[in-house]
Amino acid sequence: MTRQIVAAQSGWGKSYAAQYLTVDQLEEFEFTIIADYKDEYRGLAKAGLAKWMGLGSEERSISADGWQRLIKDNPRLVVARAVGLADWRRWVATISRVAQGLPGDALVVIDEAHFVAPQETGYPEAVTELATTGRGNGVASMWITQRLQKLDETPLSQADSRLLGGFESDRDRSKIAGYIPYDVGIHEPGGQSDSLQRFKDPEGGLKGSEWIYSTTDGEKRRVDTREWEMDVPHFGGEAPSLSVPG
Ligand SMILES: Nc1ncnc2c1ncn2[C@@H]1O[C@H](COP(=O)(O)OP(=O)(O)OP(=O)(O)O)[C@@H](O)[C@H]1O
Ligand SMILES: [Mg+2]
Repeated sequence: MTRQIVAAQSGWGKSYAAQYLTVDQLEEFEFTIIADYKDEYRGLAKAGLAKWMGLGSEERSISADGWQRLIKDNPRLVVARAVGLADWRRWVATISRVAQGLPGDALVVIDEAHFVAPQETGYPEAVTELATTGRGNGVASMWITQRLQKLDETPLSQADSRLLGGFESDRDRSKIAGYIPYDVGIHEPGGQSDSLQRFKDPEGGLKGSEWIYSTTDGEKRRVDTREWEMDVPHFGGEAPSLSVPG
């Protein structure tokens, strides 16, 4: 895997799947950096597999050289966002460039990637480079999104593999239709008899979900993440339910 897309509608189990894939490949890379937009990957630190840090107002002033040193000292790093979107984008651009200069193979994982490489507005060249650079140059990347329609074409068109789940929105489905070598209808939950499904326990919690994994080499298979058991805890991204005053 060099450039991978993980996409599905909100709550389909993307971050769980992405964490599983990241853990599975940890040994393949000397460096793994997770750009954790919603603080969902701290389980890796809890399990002792990575170092966790927040990107707040102090950390945003760390230079590219500073990040390079930090990553060399902490080759598996989960960075949770505690800054606004503009600072987060700038930091992901810095990391994208730093990853290309590290002394070893690096994996950069970007959750909520549509905020970092949006369709409508421009974004830093370093992020485009990350999307177009392959393992041959020592950098692999994973782009995770719930809004395909908002993700720029570059990471999508450059991906050599895709893990795609269900999408209620036809605009999200039509965005992938041009890239996949099979009928997109399977990605519409409940849309046809073989549509991908989500599995819930009696309390309504997600137990896993179905996906289509496909590669540019022509591999294509249906995946059920109920079989993806992880020793590493995963912290879901759901916001705590808001209480209504009065
Ligand atoms: N295969 C699985 N086995 C057990 N639990 C799972 C599995 N897949 C997802 N979950 C759990 O379901 C919840 C939702 O999954 P997850 O956070 O990965 O969804 P998401 O698609 O990233 O959502 P969001 O769009 O809100 O970021 C989480 O609590 C997660 O731990
Ligand atoms: Mg998520």
